[in-house]
Amino acid sequence: MAQIIDGKAVSAAVKQEVADEAAKLKEEKGLKVGLAVVIVGNNPASRVYVNNKKKACEAVGFQSFEYALEESTTQEQLLDLVNVLNRDDRVNGILVQLPLPKHIDEKAIINAISPEKDVDAFHPINVGRIMIGDYSFLPCTPAGVMRLIESTGTDITGKQCVVIGRSNIVGKPQAMLLLQKNGTVTICHSKTKNLKEVCLGADILVVAIGKANFVTGDMIKEGAVVIDVGMNRLDNGKLCGDVEFESAEKKASFITPVPGGVGPMTIAMLMKNTLTAAKQQAGIE
Ligand code: GUN
Repeated sequence: MAQIIDGKAVSAAVKQEVADEAAKLKEEKGLKVGLAVVIVGNNPASRVYVNNKKKACEAVGFQSFEYALEESTTQEQLLDLVNVLNRDDRVNGILVQLPLPKHIDEKAIINAISPEKDVDAFHPINVGRIMIGDYSFLPCTPAGVMRLIESTGTDITGKQCVVIGRSNIVGKPQAMLLLQKNGTVTICHSKTKNLKEVCLGADILVVAIGKANFVTGDMIKEGAVVIDVGMNRLDNGKLCGDVEFESAEKKASFITPVPGGVGPMTIAMLMKNTLTAAKQQAGIE
């Protein structure tokens, strides 16, 4: 039976580290860390995420600047705001909540954010830096996954790592981070033919495919570390991951639950990136 990885506890530890360092920065350098969060329109899920980010800022002692813009905001108006925030010294990190309304080109907005303030690590410059292993920010979800794997005491070196999912936000950067830790990495996706066999070879399995209960216990190697990035809402309103927990926990050595696994890590890593941005902008790191 697997040990459950407690994402809430690991995330609380990360936030505490960030809060301690932020307090020190304020005391010793008079520096207050600031994060700007921009949301356009009324997507209910986005509203919840943005509120959680605001609360996390308060909890770690950051200043948060919230910009809630009308659905009808034009691309030009949003670009103007990003440019103002790029120049605002109180703002160390800028996060534009995705998805944006259809009439706005997300790429154009991401490209306009100063790479030094891009705490999502979505800007092509930051993506490129991750490819060559010379980065300041890591995208929050894959960074959170790495921290969870680390919390199990697993050494990634030489291990067979399988990532299911190839999104720019999770799958691709996740594979790069596992590779940097000397894992032997395979990326699978919806077109992969022998998925079950590939999964059965995985010592570390990260699932980010966005399909409820997609990975079942018969696809998991005895003793594998299983990280479930999925967050799916079933017809009965219940949240579930991409991994069928009941059958998977019988095979894995460690497994993340949904909710309470990867989810809480994402915001904690965002706080960490914002602190790093503030230190770099102050010439401290
Ligand atoms: N929408 C869903 N997840 C994210 C995220 O990590 N960052 C941003 N900017 N938008 C999101």
